[in-house]
Amino acid sequence: MATVLVDSFGRTAVDLRVSLTDRCNLRCTYCMPEEGLQWLAKPQLLTDEEIVRLVRIAVTDLGVSEVRFTGGEPLLRPGLVGIVAECAALEPRPELSLTTNGIGLGRTAAALRDAGLDRVNVSLDTLDPEAFARLTRRHRHSDVLSGMAAAEEAGLTPVKVNTVLMRGVNDQEAPDLLAWCLERGYELRFIEQMPLDAQHGWDRSSMVTAEEILERLATRFTLTPEPAARRGAAPAERWLVDGGPARVGVIASVTRPFCRACDRTRLTADGQVRNCLFAREETDLRTALRDGGSDGEIAALWRTAMWGKKAGAGIDNPDFLQPDRPMSAIGG
Ligand code: 5AD
Ligand code: SF4
Repeated sequence: MATVLVDSFGRTAVDLRVSLTDRCNLRCTYCMPEEGLQWLAKPQLLTDEEIVRLVRIAVTDLGVSEVRFTGGEPLLRPGLVGIVAECAALEPRPELSLTTNGIGLGRTAAALRDAGLDRVNVSLDTLDPEAFARLTRRHRHSDVLSGMAAAEEAGLTPVKVNTVLMRGVNDQEAPDLLAWCLERGYELRFIEQMPLDAQHGWDRSSMVTAEEILERLATRFTLTPEPAARRGAAPAERWLVDGGPARVGVIASVTRPFCRACDRTRLTADGQVRNCLFAREETDLRTALRDGGSDGEIAALWRTAMWGKKAGAGIDNPDFLQPDRPMSAIGG
């Protein structure tokens, strides 16, 4: 099909990440400052209808087969359940998932499942409520745990858990977190901390590398690499735990980037296409939408945006420049 989202290096983007809001009810230190972050203004945000229209173009005209809703915190978007329902009605029906901090899932998991959501990824960095409060600057640990249980109960499974380890903060917890997830049937993935915080405070030496994570896990578990053939475009490298079938993943975005197999395209809450998490340029679809652009015109803009995708993000290069927008405004 000539119309799919290909780039000049031959990659095809089939996985769309849609940020539904840049706001969040936590303030994770690796993501946001305590206060003072400027939020997008309401008129800049896409409406629910605009989001659904762009997802429809992506799915029906551009070959996107997976849609993941992110934020900020996507559960803060009042119209989320309706957006999911509309996206689930598209033909061909895309896979639908959500990356969330888990707060609010207790209230919404069943409605989201009924609307057609397939899966959730919940961020959880620590099992210790006090460490959670230091890390996120909010006392919401128990809400996250109950949210995860609600997701499990609603059948939004397998529940995947994302963990960012930070030296001296929660890096000692890696084996405990894995044991805890195994007990519950959650699939844990560790993510190397990336330079995407709003305050530009990332420092390579405080990042816990994939290699260190694996060393820590090996003190308690036997890990065997899952055959590479199963990885595909997934950023996580996966290991079988104690012979399997349980698995653990490590997303080594910094030390072992997976750009060569990247199949993602991203839409920000204000309607900009980004061809990479670390892109320094965006393509404005919102203006085209509001100026009465046709589906075909918008699809063409999206295709051009993706064609210009760079070979790699180059985080480990000395000349790497952090994108202007923080992760919370791009979507994870
Ligand atoms: N580096 C790595 N992961 C991050 N996340 C947020 N900011 C960063 C960062 N700077 C994670 C969150 C969540 C997912 C969307 O990305 O913890 O799990
Ligand atoms: Fe919110 Fe996620 Fe950022 Fe934490 S990492 S402040 S949960 S958007």
